[in-house]
Amino acid sequence: MGKFIIEGGYKLNGEIKVQGSKNAVLPVLAAAILNKGKTVLYNCPKIMDVNNMLKIIESIGCQVKWEEDTLIIDSTIIDTHIIPKKYVQMMRSSIILLGSVLGRTKYVKISFPGGCSIGSRPIDLHLKALKQMNITIEDKYGFIECSTDKIKGAKVTLDYPSVGATENIMLAAVLSDGVTTIHNAAKEPEISELQYFLNQMGAMIEGASTDTITIKGVKALHDVEYRIMPDRIIAGTYMSAVASVGGELYLNDVKSDHLDATIAKMVEMGCYVKTYDDKLFISVPQRLQSIDLIRTQPYPGFPTDMQAQMMSDLVVANGTSIIVETIFESRYKHVPELAKMGADIITDGRTAVIKGVKRLNGAEVFAKDLRGGAALIIAGLNADGRTVVNNAHHILRGYESIETDLKKIGAQLRYSKD
Ligand code: EPZ
Repeated sequence: MGKFIIEGGYKLNGEIKVQGSKNAVLPVLAAAILNKGKTVLYNCPKIMDVNNMLKIIESIGCQVKWEEDTLIIDSTIIDTHIIPKKYVQMMRSSIILLGSVLGRTKYVKISFPGGCSIGSRPIDLHLKALKQMNITIEDKYGFIECSTDKIKGAKVTLDYPSVGATENIMLAAVLSDGVTTIHNAAKEPEISELQYFLNQMGAMIEGASTDTITIKGVKALHDVEYRIMPDRIIAGTYMSAVASVGGELYLNDVKSDHLDATIAKMVEMGCYVKTYDDKLFISVPQRLQSIDLIRTQPYPGFPTDMQAQMMSDLVVANGTSIIVETIFESRYKHVPELAKMGADIITDGRTAVIKGVKRLNGAEVFAKDLRGGAALIIAGLNADGRTVVNNAHHILRGYESIETDLKKIGAQLRYSKD
């Protein structure tokens, strides 16, 4: 489980290199399975979700090895079509293997991914689309079995621009017969990254970053070497960290156009932000200003994955702010924990009203999910006294080096295994 122990009140000053993107690398790892050969990935983050995904792809026959910071996957052989239940329950994003294992072997058996603490997270949109592609799907009480003699291209219209469903359809369509179009597709940068990666392997995909993606099926893919894009949510998290306690921060290896909505809210709180090439600079005023309304939205709107971190800033801003979480139905598990630190937040369904207080007080708190856990660390940086963030394993799922990164810029923070 582990915990982070933070002594609050130390301004942050310095420079951090942003890690490779968790939400880009997970579908890329699934996509590697479509190639009967080798994939070499650079800038792959060493985080728990990646470790779990690598265990899964090894369990179906792939060879995986790290050479320092380079990840090499040999997916020449796939010797089973069953995705072990223990992994799927541990990490719901493993559902992304549905499309790629199907695309490679025409059959897959996978347990229903658990919901998680931010919501039920069904996969109805994934399954509805795959059924249109000549794929038979049987519900085997906790498991789903998908099979086909040939995946056929189809015109799919998503009821909601689901990131995972868009990715699964792309993966299933790459080696299919015919052309697949996805209407109302997700437009997140991670979708574009998956398109770039697959096209480097010989796929024929266009339209990512728009709401219509076209995939022309090809016969086979080939080996590829690829560098994973920087993680926009990690970059946003570190911006929130400095906003919460004050200081100045240079972020290296960012794609600032992925951060437009986050930057706009940082500026609205009174921060100064400058972006140039692959760098970003942020400096923070004496006290943050409240924000009338933040509504989380699909990209390019304000990202739900930055909602908790933003809340940790607004709880000490001057004035009252409102957040509406439109993406997940229960993504406020960090609110009672922030309240233990003196935050003044009222939630009603998907709406949170935050009345800024001058400063938080250190307390013993518990991470309930990945981004909520990061938000508690951010709150601890501001708080008077010591904050202990328990259940650190949630945070380690996505943050490769949050302890060293924050210590490097002046945070008094340490991780303890026990
Ligand atoms: C991806 O999750 C990300 N995870 C999430 O990041 C992110 O919050 C989310 O996209 C939205 O941007 C990864 O990329 C690994 P969705 P995903 O399908 O694909 C509903 C993080 O912190 N829905 O776009 O699961 C669903 O319940 C994580 O890094 C259906 O109803 O998100 C949710 O309310 C958290 N039926 C909404 O759509 C479906 O079949 C968005 O889900 C699929 C989704």
